[in-house]
Amino acid sequence: MKICVINGPNLQLLGTREPDVYGKITLDDIVVRIKNLAKNFKNVGVEFFQSNNEGEIVDEIGNLYKSGCDGMIINPAAYTHTSIAIYDALKAVNIPTIEVHISNIYKRESFRQHSITAGACIGQISGLGIIGYECAFSALVDYIDTNSENS
Ligand code: DQA
Repeated sequence: MKICVINGPNLQLLGTREPDVYGKITLDDIVVRIKNLAKNFKNVGVEFFQSNNEGEIVDEIGNLYKSGCDGMIINPAAYTHTSIAIYDALKAVNIPTIEVHISNIYKRESFRQHSITAGACIGQISGLGIIGYECAFSALVDYIDTNSENS
């Protein structure tokens, strides 16, 4: 099973970006934590992608479909609130996806309180900090196992 983790704009700045909102953990720390978590599961691999560019994220989602990705975790960052293109890409590939937000978008500015992209996902985790990625990973593996044709 292959899980892909996609992070959107400005998340490469985690660690220094608004630490009161996003904490002090870097994107590299998140990668290490998810790789360590993945070791607890048999035959589960994980890949990572980050881009500040909407078109690159759309391209990556399309490519993941071709390369045989079984599940996605996506934090579309600001594109969450604006991107019909990412929503359409997620719908097009139909790969089970969990949307993650480090902060609780529903407690923040009104423009953050609506997610366009979540409608193309099986679920969303918002406000648990970086632990949200780990919860999403475990939930996704379980979801794919439960819903696979061999189960
Ligand atoms: C975010 C929330 C978004 O509103 C914001 O634009 C981000 C990060 C989060 O992880 O809390 O860049 O997706």
